[in-house]
Amino acid sequence: NQERSFFMVKPDAVQRGLVSEIIGRFEKRGYKIVAMKMVTPSRELIEAHYDDLRSRPFFEGLCKYMSSGEAPVVAFVVEGKGIIKVGRDMIGVTDPLKSAPGTIRGDTGVSIGMNSIHGSDGVEGAASEIPLWFSQDEIANWNKTA
Ligand code: CMP
Repeated sequence: NQERSFFMVKPDAVQRGLVSEIIGRFEKRGYKIVAMKMVTPSRELIEAHYDDLRSRPFFEGLCKYMSSGEAPVVAFVVEGKGIIKVGRDMIGVTDPLKSAPGTIRGDTGVSIGMNSIHGSDGVEGAASEIPLWFSQDEIANWNKTA
């Protein structure tokens, strides 16, 4: 069950200086970061990323916000046992107000839109999101020995 999952610190959290706080939680938990980059995503990339939400009423606002360039995002890939499920548990639910204290959104989220972080919602999501954001040569092959 060595899995990989895709995560992204959203513009609101970059704006509030929470990049190290958020990524640090995965490091402290012993997970291995295998890719990471700061990017101002294009509208096209965000639309592709949220493709399954195209029919939702908030799709337009979501895409506009995520690709506004008001602040960049920090995209990263984490590898380790059960990371897809554990990552979702670490993040909390969509609405920060419904996320438990101790979760990333419960501790740092502002609103449903400005909820600090995105994480893959399952095996399929991770499998499509990782190659959408990272090329093969942007993913590091290294052994975590500590
Ligand atoms: P995320 O995990 O990135 O996946 C889709 C995002 O849509 C979600 O987090 C929210 O930030 C955003 N979103 C905006 N409005 C809504 C809404 N009404 N319901 C669910 N998600 C929403």
